[in-house]
Amino acid sequence: MSSAPVDAAGMPRTAWHPASWRDRPAAQQPQWPDQASLDQVRKTLAGLPPLVFAGEARQLQAQLAEAAAGRAFVLQAGDCAESFDDMSADNIRDKLKVILQMAVVLAFSAGVPTVKIGRIAGQFAKPRSSSTEVVDDVELPSFRGHMVNDASFSEDSRAADAERLVRAYHQSASTLNLLRAFTKGGYADLRQVHVWNQEFIAASPEGRRYERVADGIDSALRFMAACGVSTDAPELHQVDFYTSHEALVLDYEEALTREDSITGQWYDCSAHMLWIGERTRQLDGAHVEFMRGIKNPLGCKLGPTASPAEVLELCEVLNPDRIPGRLTLISRMGAEKVSDVLPPLLAAVRDAGHPVLWECDPMHGNTYTTAGGRKTRHFEDVMAEIDHYFTAHAKAGTWPGGIHVEITGDDVTECVGGAEAISDDDLELRYETMCDPRLNGPQSLELAFRLAERLSD
Ligand code: PEP
Ligand code: CO
Repeated sequence: MSSAPVDAAGMPRTAWHPASWRDRPAAQQPQWPDQASLDQVRKTLAGLPPLVFAGEARQLQAQLAEAAAGRAFVLQAGDCAESFDDMSADNIRDKLKVILQMAVVLAFSAGVPTVKIGRIAGQFAKPRSSSTEVVDDVELPSFRGHMVNDASFSEDSRAADAERLVRAYHQSASTLNLLRAFTKGGYADLRQVHVWNQEFIAASPEGRRYERVADGIDSALRFMAACGVSTDAPELHQVDFYTSHEALVLDYEEALTREDSITGQWYDCSAHMLWIGERTRQLDGAHVEFMRGIKNPLGCKLGPTASPAEVLELCEVLNPDRIPGRLTLISRMGAEKVSDVLPPLLAAVRDAGHPVLWECDPMHGNTYTTAGGRKTRHFEDVMAEIDHYFTAHAKAGTWPGGIHVEITGDDVTECVGGAEAISDDDLELRYETMCDPRLNGPQSLELAFRLAERLSD
């Protein structure tokens, strides 16, 4: 391990600036067909207001530091990929409802403060394992998220269009605006806990279990009032809700990176937290270079091939000053592998004294394709990965700080299993995701209840 300012490739790590990533290989970038249009779009984006403020990112980092120290738990959840097509107030509200429900279950049942972060208001770009897709002998560029192209299979819709970056910005702005209104304007008030239980969820066993939690919260609030304790505290009536997405398309992220007038430091103002994906975490790559210089709290996905040496290098490069809350390592190993591959990483990071926050993404290592050709995940594999993740932390004496999950507020059938026993055949009923399969409302609640049990062990 070296703290000298050179990286694994021997290149100097000096003079960071928002465009210094351009000197490095950038994986997973779209092939923009029209450079002049891209340049124009970059200029437009650079002139638009920031979506979040540096002070908010610092506030989130302080909360993540609490989680890193074992005093809070992080719930990071939302779509695999947001869509330009189903943007509506109902859609945003329903996603928020499920996240609030999960957070209430965790906080009430396990008694841990829960930091809430959405994969929302910017999650528009997808890394792909193959840059092209072949259907009936026709080969076209892969779908890379609505920030880049469209999912339908035609030459036109798969062409990368830089104008989409501006549209992603505006959709993020209106999504964020509504989230702020909901979370600060009364909708997230704890007196509304029953309202968050949508009908199709309330009818499920998990929904009924949630109703009992909600009744418990009502009683607790009444009890406090009866004891003369004030229930005016803003914490009971508003929530802090943060946004995050994978910082994948670097032309977009660079254009939204601004110098904070208070501290003089650089923040990527496209979201509060940004993460590096499994396919773009190369130590000598453009994404690591870009992310090391912005001061937002960062995440980095770690798949089953990550070695302890590589992870320690990532910690050194991304968090050289060892600031608690700055770096979240998101383990996504798969239920079968996590018990073998995670413990050496936990031990290495612990022994090196890096104050990282650990999260478990139990989704991306457990994806498979059914005989009918649907990409899915089994609820029990998701739970098994979480279970093994907790066991590994218990053995290492480290805190299993949070989870990172793909969920939706819609009544979909995309992941199999769960209390409703969704089968392979059921996937044909309401399979709506543009990218990876998401847990539906009852499955998300069931996960939260089981997690709460594990956290109270
Ligand atoms: C994702 O989180 O949507 C994703 C693509 O994950 P990963 O980088 O871990 O594969
Ligand atoms: Co995904």
